[in-house]
Amino acid sequence: MGAGIAQVAAQSGHTVLLNDRDAEYIARGLSTISKNLTRSVEKGRLTAETRDEILERIVATPAIHQLDVDLAIEAATEHLETKLALFRSLDHHCDPRAVLASNTSSISITTLAAATKRPEHVAGMHFMNPVPVMALVEIIRGIATSQATFDFVRDLAVQMGKTPVEVRDFPGFVSNRVLMPMINEAIYAVYEGVGTPESVDTVMKLGMNHPMGPLTLADFIGLDTCLAIMEVLHDGFGDSKYRPCPLLKQYVAAGWLGKKSGRGFYTYA
Ligand code: CAA
Repeated sequence: MGAGIAQVAAQSGHTVLLNDRDAEYIARGLSTISKNLTRSVEKGRLTAETRDEILERIVATPAIHQLDVDLAIEAATEHLETKLALFRSLDHHCDPRAVLASNTSSISITTLAAATKRPEHVAGMHFMNPVPVMALVEIIRGIATSQATFDFVRDLAVQMGKTPVEVRDFPGFVSNRVLMPMINEAIYAVYEGVGTPESVDTVMKLGMNHPMGPLTLADFIGLDTCLAIMEVLHDGFGDSKYRPCPLLKQYVAAGWLGKKSGRGFYTYA
């Protein structure tokens, strides 16, 4: 998702410093962005000149201490300790006036903010996948987020062509509080033999007009991410209705993580 966020930010005129823990991931992100933009050129929606200008605004920045930015948007894996370490590091290296935002799907913004010395300058900016296509950004206020920080990230989402929706800082926010239990229930339907992945997906596509069936969507999001979000909901609310399906746990244990690993509920070439 980091590549998608970088693409949309650069398309709306911002200079983007793209950082990852490994230069190989930065190169992969740049290649995805280049392919997406080239597809738009082929469809006649963008000139080749504009594509090149957008790409020039995205600068590979392997060293975190070189992030001289007004806003950092963290889009690391959905793992609390990883995100806490990143927020500590961003807090240390970025200008004290910079806003630090997280693209987390479910983790508490208040907790991430508390790892910094600038909790008032921390907010959630939760984009949806695929970022260049999806209109929504959930904007999450941590308990200490200032009004100025909130306004800044909300206005930026609008300027990036997205529709911001304000939500409060509770596990899964709104998007994953509603989406992920549906996906988990779809997995239970497969686990209990009520239907195959194909039949569950077809019911939801043709019966409810969902663009993707829940199991195709789970593979697309990543089954490890789905499990991590269910665990945040389960731990955060202490309610058994959020228990992750054993089949989801088993797939993740097997390394069947969905599209990115080549196998999940479906197999991918
Ligand atoms: N990156 C960029 N653009 C993409 C893309 C990608 N990965 N995948 C598709 N697109 C673009 C295509 O280029 C195409 O663009 P144009 O209309 O401009 O030509 C457009 O999206 C439609 O694509 P397709 O015609 O190939 O396929 P589609 O009509 O089936 O749409 C889809 C694909 C938009 C992904 C659609 O299936 C969909 O909306 N799926 C549901 C997505 C969803 O629910 N996302 C939220 C996931 S949850 C999340 O992100 C948050 C979380 O915390 C877990």
